[in-house]
Amino acid sequence: MVLKAVKKLKGVLRVPSDKSISHRAVILGSLAKGKTLVREWLVSADTLATLKAFRKLGVKIRRKDNELSIDGMDYRLKEAQDVINCYNSGTTARLILGVLSTQPIYSSITGDASLRKRPMLRVVEPLRQMGAQIDGREKGDKLPLSVRGGALKGISFFNKKASAQVKSSLLLAGLRAEGITEIVEPYLSRDHTERMLKSFGIELVQLESEKGHVVKLAGGQSLKGCDVYCPADPSSAAFFAALAVLVEKGELILKDVMVNPTRDGFFRKLREMGADIEYVNLRKYSGEEVADIVVRSGNSLKAVKVREEEIPSMIDEIPILAVVMAMAEGTSEVRGAKELRVKESDRIRAIVENLRAMGVEVEEYEDGFSLRGVNRLKGTVIRTYGDHRIAMAFSIAGVLAEGETIIDNPTCVKVSYPEFYQHLYSLVES
Ligand code: S3P
Repeated sequence: MVLKAVKKLKGVLRVPSDKSISHRAVILGSLAKGKTLVREWLVSADTLATLKAFRKLGVKIRRKDNELSIDGMDYRLKEAQDVINCYNSGTTARLILGVLSTQPIYSSITGDASLRKRPMLRVVEPLRQMGAQIDGREKGDKLPLSVRGGALKGISFFNKKASAQVKSSLLLAGLRAEGITEIVEPYLSRDHTERMLKSFGIELVQLESEKGHVVKLAGGQSLKGCDVYCPADPSSAAFFAALAVLVEKGELILKDVMVNPTRDGFFRKLREMGADIEYVNLRKYSGEEVADIVVRSGNSLKAVKVREEEIPSMIDEIPILAVVMAMAEGTSEVRGAKELRVKESDRIRAIVENLRAMGVEVEEYEDGFSLRGVNRLKGTVIRTYGDHRIAMAFSIAGVLAEGETIIDNPTCVKVSYPEFYQHLYSLVES
């Protein structure tokens, strides 16, 4: 894929639906009693991994384009006939581990080469404490993993990494455990599971204590099938918001974007940098705040710092934020983001290496990076490491750079945003 510089971007865009919500709609719908209808479901490689996994576990899911109809099994899944492949999807693997831990069946899960390198002990350890039998490579830290679930007991768990995948996995296990399951987080991670569980009729308690953000629920509750609407993904919208801010003449309306405060940190950061960004037409769908986001270019951007406590609300947007920082005036810094090293790729490494290749002075830290903004990026060959967010962030950098930029593996965008390049070409005029 070869990208050339563009000068204008104008239009209205509804980016594909939120990946986190689309995963959860399939999972909760499968576990509920009765029927669940899902509208505007994201069709992507990651979410299809979740859909296929639950079909393998005996759930009847009909899909017509972006609509799903799910016949829930009330937590009575069938033993799969084969290994469940989660492909590239960390959310599928970690959340399904929580679900399978509750089931008196044998399951075995695996993933692609990237997912098989990612740490699983963060969910395996607390699930073992709850009573699940899980084994696999590296003492259960790496896929493939085998699970024998059954009677669980609730635990109290401190979620030090503020990982929503860990929290969600334990909540899904907790619903079938004896007693109370409690998760405490130092910083609030995305709370879609909590919000959606409430839509499915689950009672949970959320409070702030001196220990941090607490969520707890009692086991033995049943989910009731319901309708779920999936709004546009702020993580996908972020790429085009960045482009609209940075291009010479940019004006873009991003429709229907989920702006849950545990997810919109990137947009707040852009505003702090001086960007012209406005939320209009605020509304609520399926328990989630939604807005149209109006973005215009023209304002000059200044450097910013991102601290550990801000990371969860923009964890997946750091690659595109780094590109914006590289074109802002002054020295910007991201710290407390060690988790980026264990995403679909080592994202700190990928950001540092690709920005340096584009002519930016970058210093790498174990938990982040700092960089000095430049007037113009230089076209180069981008190494994506097969990571969708690196590919998309550096495609935006590529159309802003001088000369040509080559993306080594553009097809990896299918993981979260299969239409990314079509949308990019339809909006820009060189
Ligand atoms: C996700 C949570 C985040 C995020 C991932 C999706 C989710 O991961 O990076 O893309 O849907 O729960 P962590 O929970 O590991 O931080």
